[in-house]
Amino acid sequence: MHDIIDQLEKKRGAARLGGGAGRIEAQHAKGKLTARERLELLLDEGSFEEWDMFVEHRCADFGMAEHKIPGDGVVTGYGMINGRLVFVFSQDFTVFGGALSEAHAEKICKVMDQAMKVGAPVIGLNDSGGARIQEGVASLGGYAEVFQRNVMASGVIPQISLIMGPCAGGAVYSPAMTDFIFMVRDSSYMFVTGPEVVKTVTHEEVTAEQLGGALTHTAQSGVADLAFDNDVEALLMLRRFFNYLPLNNRDGPPLRPNGDAPERDDFSLDTLVPDNPNKAYDIKEAIVKVVDDGEFFELQADYAKNIVVGFGRMAGRSVGIVANNPQVLAGCLDIKSAIKGARFVRFCDAFGIPLVTFVDVPGFMPGTAQEYGGIIKHGAKLLYAYAECTVPKVTVITRKAYGGAYDVMSSKHLRGDVNFAWPNAEIAVMGAKGAVEIIFRDDKADPAKLSRREAEYKARFANPFVAGARGYIDDVIQPHETRRRICRSLAMLKDKKLDNPWRKHGNIPL
Ligand code: HXC
Repeated sequence: MHDIIDQLEKKRGAARLGGGAGRIEAQHAKGKLTARERLELLLDEGSFEEWDMFVEHRCADFGMAEHKIPGDGVVTGYGMINGRLVFVFSQDFTVFGGALSEAHAEKICKVMDQAMKVGAPVIGLNDSGGARIQEGVASLGGYAEVFQRNVMASGVIPQISLIMGPCAGGAVYSPAMTDFIFMVRDSSYMFVTGPEVVKTVTHEEVTAEQLGGALTHTAQSGVADLAFDNDVEALLMLRRFFNYLPLNNRDGPPLRPNGDAPERDDFSLDTLVPDNPNKAYDIKEAIVKVVDDGEFFELQADYAKNIVVGFGRMAGRSVGIVANNPQVLAGCLDIKSAIKGARFVRFCDAFGIPLVTFVDVPGFMPGTAQEYGGIIKHGAKLLYAYAECTVPKVTVITRKAYGGAYDVMSSKHLRGDVNFAWPNAEIAVMGAKGAVEIIFRDDKADPAKLSRREAEYKARFANPFVAGARGYIDDVIQPHETRRRICRSLAMLKDKKLDNPWRKHGNIPL
């Protein structure tokens, strides 16, 4: 019996060593942690239950039969994050460069299948040279098995990808189908074709970092949600992020009680919006002052900054926050911001997380770049997302709500449950200047008359009471009471039930 126990420990020891001490050292030299070290940081201490430690590949080509490492380049299993269940896989770059074999894919699929059965999120720590070249099509099949599961799990359990090394070729499409992608600066990259292929095909010379590094994907392409300086920071932030998410689509937003009173007023909000409607202010200040303990977990902070999205808590429960940002493009909606907002709204809706929307939007962004780029179709994504969404929706118009953008931003007409406006709100078809230039075109030669008309239009429409008179706004509130009013609304909406008509699926303008 002792022999067997010794053998088991030996086998475990071999698996734990992965590609060996030399390769572990090389991994550390790059500033990267190993697959197991990463899991230790991500999961609650001692909570990791590993599966399939002894799995080996079945490839016999290119001398691979003699080259087997238990675990086959990926560490899989489940554990806890702050006491909540999560399934994980962590690719081990020290074993065949973390490349995905058929057996490696089977391990990932096994945890994904189990996560679906019990209703718990999956977190993937990606660090891989892609398809295991020696295996050929068996590896491609393995990827497709993972892709299929990513799609089936979408909207059922949260899926998060943390890119901690290379992620190239078709391999990028598994993270792309997960809900959130985080990256590590300087050590991770994602691209469909690498710099060499790019050079051959398009004659562009770019480094891997320029082509698909963390900066590229968080600021330029919008593929990734956030970037962190190193493995440790990324993993610790991922633990914090996890706290906002439900375990599955029936779980409801998690409750993390805190000491911040739901009835708390914040009088500094009364002076946040400048008197001059053309002056910008920081909408994130409003968000931070309204949510519990000033904690706002912003996503995609460096991409499409004219819209702000992220998670906070109200009276202890997670909420999704969407806000126009008057500091960038005056808060206009454009292609990128509409897509960013729509994807976030759909995540919240799929997982039952209430939405709080702060509106200060002068309209959609004009111009050929936007029209040629398809603002009609892409802008419609945000409209569609808000309109199909059935979770509790609370809206606060802090200043401008003009034109189609008024409709889009969680308006009453798109089944907004509670719609507030601050007293200085301007809700109209368009700004006063533009409006009088159209309807009083004949007065153009007389600037004094035109400015009288403008003042007249402003007095008539640039306020929240016209919308209030029709019930499109439920109440005009003092800025300082915003938190209290939102908390009460969300408490009232806690058991909201609203179903969309049966259909196979809608046809969102993709
Ligand atoms: C098998 C691989 C591998 C792979 C790396 N290795 N990638 N083995 N299949 N895809 C092995 C290397 O041979 C090496 O083994 C060890 O991992 C470490 O790799 P290095 O090259 O020494 O590391 P580094 O210099 O850091 O470079 C990492 C890398 C590079 C940039 C990822 O290895 C690389 O370019 N690999 C090939 C990437 C690739 O073309 N993958 C296929 C993409 S197509 P030894 O024993 O020598 O140390 C694809 C299609 C998916 O993935 C389609 C899904 C639908």
